[in-house]
Amino acid sequence: MNSFKAYRVWDASTRWFHWINVLCVLGLVAAGVAILNDDALGLSTQGKILLKTVHVLIGYVFAVNLLWRLIWAFVGGPYARWRAILPGGRGYLGELRAYIADAKAGRLRQYLGHNPLGRIAVTALLLMLLSQAVTGLVLAGTDLFYPPVGSWIAGWVAAPGFDPATLQPYAKSTYDAAAYADMRSFRKPFIEVHEIGFYLLLGLILIHILAVVITELREGGNLISAMFTGRKILDQEPADKTSTD
Ligand code: HEM
Repeated sequence: MNSFKAYRVWDASTRWFHWINVLCVLGLVAAGVAILNDDALGLSTQGKILLKTVHVLIGYVFAVNLLWRLIWAFVGGPYARWRAILPGGRGYLGELRAYIADAKAGRLRQYLGHNPLGRIAVTALLLMLLSQAVTGLVLAGTDLFYPPVGSWIAGWVAAPGFDPATLQPYAKSTYDAAAYADMRSFRKPFIEVHEIGFYLLLGLILIHILAVVITELREGGNLISAMFTGRKILDQEPADKTSTD
C-alpha cells in the first residue's frame, strides 16, 4: 500500500483570492440577474440605480482581487505562477496526452498544481473574469459616471451649461442628445460582451465545480479542502513534483 504524504501547494494569497472571488462572483451574478430582470421586478429608476451601484461596488472588490491574482501569477509561489497555469510551455502537450490516456485506462495520475485539463479550465475562467472586469468597469462609467472612465463619459455627454461633475444617471434632460446617442453606440459592444460573458462564465463555473468534484472522487488528493488549508495529501509521486517539494 502507498503511504500518504502532505504537500504545501496553494499559498495564502491564492487561497484568499479564490474565496474572495467566489463571494464576489456570487454577489455579481445575483445583482446581474436582477439587472437583467429589472423591469419584470417592477424597479423604479432609483431602484435600478441602487441595484447597479451595488453591482459596481462589489465589482470594484472583484476587479482589485483579480488584478492582484494576475500580478501574483508573476511573483507568487510555484503553483500560483503562469507557468503552472497556462496550457502551454515545454512538455505540456505530452503531459496532456499522458493524462488523458491514463484517465481512459483508469490509471491514477496525481498533480500538486493543476492537472493539464485543469490548466485549460483555469485559463478560460481567468480570461472570462478579466473580460467581465474590463467591460464592467467601462459600463460603470457609461451607466453611473463612476471611475475609472466615468468623468470622461460625463464630459462627453453633458449638455452645454451643465457641469459634468454633477451629472446623474438617467437624468437625460442634462445630457446632450446627440452626444448621448453616440455614447450609447460606443457602449453597445461592451454591454453585449458583458452579457454573453455572464452566460459563458456560468457555464464555465458549472464545469469547474463538476470537474473538481469528479477529480477529487477519482484521484483523491483532497482538492477541495486544499483550497482552504493549502495542503494536498497524495499517495503517489505527483507528476509535477519539483525538487523543492
Ligand atoms: C463575474 C463578474 C460579473 C458578472 C457575472 C456580471 C454580470 C452582469 C449581468 C448579468 C449584468 C446585466 C447585463 C444586462 O443588463 O444586459 C450586468 C450589468 C452590469 N455590470 Fe456586471 N458582472 C460582472 C462584473 C462587473 C464588474 C467588475 C463591474 C464594474 C465594476 C460591472 C458593472 C456592471 C454594470 C454597470 C452593469 C449595468 C449594465 C446595464 O445597464 O445593464 N460588472 N453585469
